[in-house]
Amino acid sequence: MLKVVDVDVSYGHARVLHGVSLELETGKMLFVVGRNGAGKTTLLKTIVGLLKPLKGSIYFDGGEISGLPPEGLYHVGIRYVNQDKKVFSNLNVRENIEIAAFSSGEPLPQALEKVLAIYPKMKEFLNLKAGQLSGGQRQILLIGQALVGDPKLLLVDEPTQGLAAVVINEVARILQHLKGKVSAIIVEQNLPLVSRLADQVVVLKEGKVVRVLSSAAEIGNTALLEKSL
Ligand SMILES: Nc1ncnc2c1ncn2[C@@H]1O[C@H](COP(=O)(O)OP(=O)(O)OP(=O)(O)O)[C@@H](O)[C@H]1O
Ligand SMILES: [Mg+2]
Repeated sequence: MLKVVDVDVSYGHARVLHGVSLELETGKMLFVVGRNGAGKTTLLKTIVGLLKPLKGSIYFDGGEISGLPPEGLYHVGIRYVNQDKKVFSNLNVRENIEIAAFSSGEPLPQALEKVLAIYPKMKEFLNLKAGQLSGGQRQILLIGQALVGDPKLLLVDEPTQGLAAVVINEVARILQHLKGKVSAIIVEQNLPLVSRLADQVVVLKEGKVVRVLSSAAEIGNTALLEKSL
């Protein structure tokens, strides 16, 4: 459903991705791991059209998407939850969900249902300013909003970064719930979580894919993952 072929990306003269290729099958969860600065965020930004590859191609549902603008990619069903965990702090939670409903064309009641389906507790917070949510709840709200409009592909950058252990478990539970229901590429540094959830793991190092793990035995081996970084 998504194919990245031999992509190079640079910021000015600094080349950050070098010949990156990967392939995601429908309904699968692919995790991208790598040390800080490896190029993980750059890869996601390139897939969603925020950065243009210098070289290489990206195909989605059979058609080439490299060079298309992010708005266009949103409308073909690609959603991106970035690393910043930014919500509209001064709007309440319901209004934040309204924005996702409006952007995607999904009626508000269904949009609310999408969010509550992954996190029923959000019902208690609908009238609360989104800025008052905890970091974990904000992350969950952002994932919920990304699910509005039934995306075909979900990209999430470091969903558990900076969260307390109990909240990490909550986010992991949500990702587990989504497994098989949505195709996803998730950047994550929590290797035990990656081991539990991934269908495939791509290891990025200094902007190159240095390893692809596809078998359950390899993915389940956290020590092997750690060693691959
Ligand atoms: N806007 C930018 N301009 C110039 N260089 C950048 C820019 N954004 C990132 N870089 C550089 O590109 C490289 C890859 O950055 P990127 O953010 O993709 O890494 P990452 O794997 O997501 O790291 P982290 O784990 O810290 O989020 C780093 O060397 C970084 O300093
Ligand atoms: Mg990053």
